[in-house]
Amino acid sequence: MKIQEVRPEFTTSRPGDYPPERLPEIAFLGRSNVGKSSLINSLLHRKRLARTSKAPGRTRAIHWYRVEGDSLQCRFVDLPGYGYARVPRRVREQEWAALIETYLRSKQPMAVAIQLLDIRRYGPTTLDEQMITWLRTNGQPTTYVLTKADKLSKSRRAQAAQLFARKLQLPDGVRPIPYSAVTGEGRTELWSLLDTHIAVN
Ligand code: GTP
Ligand code: MG
Repeated sequence: MKIQEVRPEFTTSRPGDYPPERLPEIAFLGRSNVGKSSLINSLLHRKRLARTSKAPGRTRAIHWYRVEGDSLQCRFVDLPGYGYARVPRRVREQEWAALIETYLRSKQPMAVAIQLLDIRRYGPTTLDEQMITWLRTNGQPTTYVLTKADKLSKSRRAQAAQLFARKLQLPDGVRPIPYSAVTGEGRTELWSLLDTHIAVN
């Protein structure tokens, strides 16, 4: 899709709030600090559309971004991360959990969920596995993206991708996409996948 316009459209920290009109949504899921907001900026060629931070816990609300392309429209959905376990912040963490859960359980399924995993971990964490199990149980189309690919050498990147494919039990021929928000590696591959998901919706 050739992007023509991108704009922040709706933000909420109240579970159950949604933008009025429904459009195909692409939601970005993953642990705090895995690179969700950076991936959104990178895919949309924007530097500071979604706010990012070195410290985990940057995104504290759900942000919908309207993306208008030459042939279709959709929304990118930036969510708070899970797994941010600093005890003094427990209450906030629970609030975020409620936000994420209510979003996932909303009647309108996502056109595609993008599950982000840090490539340097060489496999999903327990919380990632819980999320992935939920997505699969609910028949949610999902694409797996391995973030921060620039932090590994090319050969290690390929090794990590293979290992993730095995640990995630992906079908033959399906592989997670290594991505770098720094170099743009993976952008073309991910966009062509997203295009097919939005087009069928
Ligand atoms: P929360 O909103 O806290 O859940 O985090 P997030 O998943 O949105 O992560 P965010 O995009 O804020 O990025 C976290 C940190 O990782 C920031 O310091 C980013 O600059 C860095 N980062 C994200 N993607 C990449 C990448 O591809 N390569 C490198 N080297 N750093 C990255
Ligand atoms: Mg974020």
